[in-house]
This record gives sequence, structure tokens and C-alpha cells, in this order.
Amino acid sequence: MSILSAFGIGLTQHLKQTSLFDLPNLPTSVSCLQDYQSELNSLSLPSNIVSLCLQSEQFVATPNFCAGIQTIEDWIKKLEESTALDQGCRFDLSDLTACDTCLRAGNQVQSTLVSIDGNKTHTTDCFYYTVLYAAGIANELGPESHGALVCAFSLALNEQSSSSSKDGKVVAIKRIIESEFQGDEFCNVVEIISNLKHRNLVPLRGCCMMDDDGSFDEKGSQRYLVYDYMPNGNLEDHLFQSKMASKPLSWPHSKNIIMDVAKELAYLHYGVKPAICHRDIKATNILLDADMRARVADFGLANQSREGQSHLTTRVAGTHRYLAPEYALYGQLTEKSDVYSFGVVILEIMCGRKALDLSSSDSPRAFLITNWAWSLMKAGKTEVVLDRSLIDNGDSMNSIQRL
Ligand SMILES: *[C@@H]1O[C@H](CO)[C@@H](O)[C@H](O)[C@H]1NC(C)=O
Ligand SMILES: *[C@@H]1O[C@H](CO)[C@@H](O)[C@H](O)[C@H]1NC(C)=O
Repeated sequence: MSILSAFGIGLTQHLKQTSLFDLPNLPTSVSCLQDYQSELNSLSLPSNIVSLCLQSEQFVATPNFCAGIQTIEDWIKKLEESTALDQGCRFDLSDLTACDTCLRAGNQVQSTLVSIDGNKTHTTDCFYYTVLYAAGIANELGPESHGALVCAFSLALNEQSSSSSKDGKVVAIKRIIESEFQGDEFCNVVEIISNLKHRNLVPLRGCCMMDDDGSFDEKGSQRYLVYDYMPNGNLEDHLFQSKMASKPLSWPHSKNIIMDVAKELAYLHYGVKPAICHRDIKATNILLDADMRARVADFGLANQSREGQSHLTTRVAGTHRYLAPEYALYGQLTEKSDVYSFGVVILEIMCGRKALDLSSSDSPRAFLITNWAWSLMKAGKTEVVLDRSLIDNGDSMNSIQRL
């Protein structure tokens, strides 16, 4: 979520309450942005991020923004009372079809507004008004609903990616809270990662380091990695009570994801020299792009392994439930540790269960997917291991057997 689209949620609430698309005057806008910055401070974001990204003038109402519209009454006067948006964006937008319908309606209304205005430089302003109206007025669940967030406001993100002038790409920024790397070592790692190019890797754009006061500094204690933004969230969201998806992943999608991660690991292990161990393969590190293809992320822990010999690390990184036993116990790192973790991810996909479940109802003990699947396999009960939805679909079973 960008700084602007998160602020858009606030503007949408303002629109609902006051009927105004923008803020009434400059002092209101200045104080509103100050409040917003203090909210962001509590999330440990830099203390000047709002002033870097947004200008108070841009939110002050003027008749010049889009077709002379300032209020909802103006909007209704210019368009008819019920635009395509009121129908198309009315219901829950979480599901892809509903979102798609709303986006089409949005495009239609935006171009109507631009043609009423007659000035093409107002296209972006009309676009923002359309988003505010769709999320705040047309949608009955409101701007803070999950559907509005993933559909209307991520639409704002996509639009920015094509129209924004910075380098014009939507990115995701990840703050590295604790890193075992020193300042220059951190930069080396980032350089290694940025040079890797593979279609199943989340592209890393760069990094920045800042001092606590928000000034850029090579030795700054705050470190951020800048990645390409992945619109479909991570695999874990889709597998388990997804916030992102309303439907479970279909077998063809799951199979693509498994193959994508396999290709990526083959690249890291055999395609680059010296080989790279990812060290933290897990469902939350497998992100899904706009086409639902998997891309492996988070090389925060990656290190180049010494060629031909296993790597003894002083500190075992990674997430325990996915760790290969020899790595967890002895800190012995090879490419095989990644393959083990990948196997655990495949089990999660095929079984529809989490690698480790401490709240398991099956037994009083903790549920560990590897032990569970292995004991059933040994007892010849493979079909019990597989997720029911895979078994219920005959075609899927056939393709699993072929796999
Ligand atoms: C179009 O809008 C821009 C920005 O508001 C303004 O500077 C420009 O003069 C307008 N052009 C016309 C032809 O009105
Ligand atoms: C990364 O690997 C190098 C040698 O290949 C080693 O000296 C360094 O300590 C490693 N860093 C981490 C964080 O494991």
C-alpha cells in the first residue's frame, strides 16, 4: 500500500462524512498530513516520508481538478444520479470478478468525466475522484472493507505505476528489522541479489539506509529493501483462510506455483556461480504476481555458499518448521536444505494443512506435517494425506499421478 493510497482511505471517509472530494483549505490539509505522519511514525516509518511523498496543496479543493466537481452534489449534477459505478462497485469487491466489474465501471466513468472536463491534464484527478467515489459512496461496505482495499485502492496503486513520474513503478518496501549483516556487507548482499534476474524471482530494485531522523545515510541504522510490488500477496494467504483470495487455489494454479519455485531454486543452485542458498523458503516468502505465477522473495538471509562444501553457519537462520534436520541441528547448510524446505511447502499445498499447527484438534500434540504425512505414507494411506479438494476432482488426481 503506498503512502498516497493509504491517505486515500482517509480522504474517502472524509468524502462520506462531508460530501467533499478534497479538503476545504490549506490549513486543514497541512494539519491532516501532520496527523497522518504521526500515525506513520508509530509504524516506524521515516519522520519525513509524508512531506517527501505528498504536498498539502494537492488536496485542497479547487474547481480545476476534474470537471469542476467539488462535492457529491456536483458529481451527481455532472453525471446522472446512478452511474455505472453505483451498480458495478456496489457489493463486496474481494473476489476477482466483482473487482473486475468495478474496474470496468471505473474506466467508463473516468473517461466520461474527462470528456466533460475537456482538459486531458485532469485525467489523473478524475481518476482519483472515481476511486474515492467507488470506495466511499458506491460500495456499500465502505473504504475500510477488505474488498475496497484490495480492489479500489490497489487499483490506485496500479494506476500510479503507469502514470506516476518518480521511476514510475509501484514498489514494495520492506524494512529489515534485524540483520546479521554490517552496513557494507548489507550493501554487498543487496548488490548480489539485485544482479540476479529470473522470472520466478521477485525483482529487487535497491535498498536505502536512513538515520533515525529520516536522512539518507550509508551507515544509517534503518534499512529498507525495495522490491517490485506483487499484487496477489503470498502463498500462505491463498492456502489458509486467505485474506486475499475468496476461492481456494485450483490444482492447475498450485501446480504452476510448485513448478515456478522449482525453477527458481534450480536457478539459484545451478544457474549462478557460486551457488546461492536461499535459506528461508516458506509459504510467506512465495509471492504471487498479477498472473498468479510464483516468485520467490526475501533473500534477506541468503548467502553465497562456499563452492563444493557445505556451509557451517554460526547462527541458524530460517523458519524452524521448514528447516531440514541437519541444518536445524548442526547448522550445516547446503542447497539440499532449500530443497527440504521446498518439500515442506509442497506438502502444505497438497495436504491443505500448515507445516506446524500448535492448535491442532486431531491430537493433543503439536501437528508437524512431515511426521504426519510420512507415517500415513508408510501405512499405505497416501490418499488420506491429500487435500480432499484434490481428490474430489478426478482430473486433478490423474494429473497428480502423472506429475
Ligand atoms: C488544463 O489544465 C491545466 C491544469 O489545471 C491548466 O494549467 C491548463 O491551462 C488547462 N488547459 C486548458 C486548455 O484549459
Ligand atoms: C556469508 O558467506 C561468507 C563466505 O562465503 C562468510 O564469510 C560470511 O560470514 C557469511 N555471512 C553470513 C551472514 O552467513
